[in-house]
Amino acid sequence: LSSVGAAMRRPFVAANWKMHKTVAESVTYAHAVVPLVEAITDVDIVVAPPFLALPAMADALADSRIKVASQNVHAASHGAFTGEVSLEMLQGSGVTVVIIGHSERRQLFGETDAGVNAKTRATVGAGLTSIVCVGETLEEREANRTFDILDRQVRDGLAGLSPEQVATQVVAYEPVWAIGTGRNATPDQANEAHRHIRQQLVSQFGDSAAACRVIYGGSVKPGNVAELVGQSEVDGALVGGASLDPTSFSEIVAGSRSTAI
Ligand code: PGA
Repeated sequence: LSSVGAAMRRPFVAANWKMHKTVAESVTYAHAVVPLVEAITDVDIVVAPPFLALPAMADALADSRIKVASQNVHAASHGAFTGEVSLEMLQGSGVTVVIIGHSERRQLFGETDAGVNAKTRATVGAGLTSIVCVGETLEEREANRTFDILDRQVRDGLAGLSPEQVATQVVAYEPVWAIGTGRNATPDQANEAHRHIRQQLVSQFGDSAAACRVIYGGSVKPGNVAELVGQSEVDGALVGGASLDPTSFSEIVAGSRSTAI
């Protein structure tokens, strides 16, 4: 089932800018990247700028196929949550995709699997696409706990979604030791983890959940993307540092097409 599904899973490539770029810099990027990826019609392309740049990016990308994502969201619809942003606010600014539970959110801002789950349910319930991030630390990998960690993060993070909802979401496998370190997972390591994640999804939600795209993140670059995304279980990439330059990001989008061909 999984290998049949691989041909049907369209590559999905997302830029995660983290805390980089002003509004003006974001718009300059948008105008630069659109012509670079215009001809690539067989990849889903997403850019996640900081909150402040979301409306301007949605405007600048309105006539393109590039979708705009936020890097976070609050699960509640409104209320006394100083400094937070709701789904309704994001939707009103042209956002259709939300990154949830990035390891930096988990490690630096105390996000838990329960919090990730609340955000994921709210996001999917509102009709947006979630990119739920999972991944083990180096310590956990060395202690042979990788699969346990991934099982827990997937099980608890996506709990309560319907099989139909899961099939249209995205899970990002981002080994913490590979993020921003220049040390990517090997294609074999990535494929093994992705296969495990997909098995967990199928055992939790049934066969239709195999359609959920599982993308890889952690030191993806133009030079390694084709080999990573060329793996049967790797459906795309979540890119940090190498997404900040429009040419580099467009090369990564182009390199991810190897699965589609
Ligand atoms: P990186 O970040 O590409 O800079 O390693 C990936 C991520 O954190 O999503």
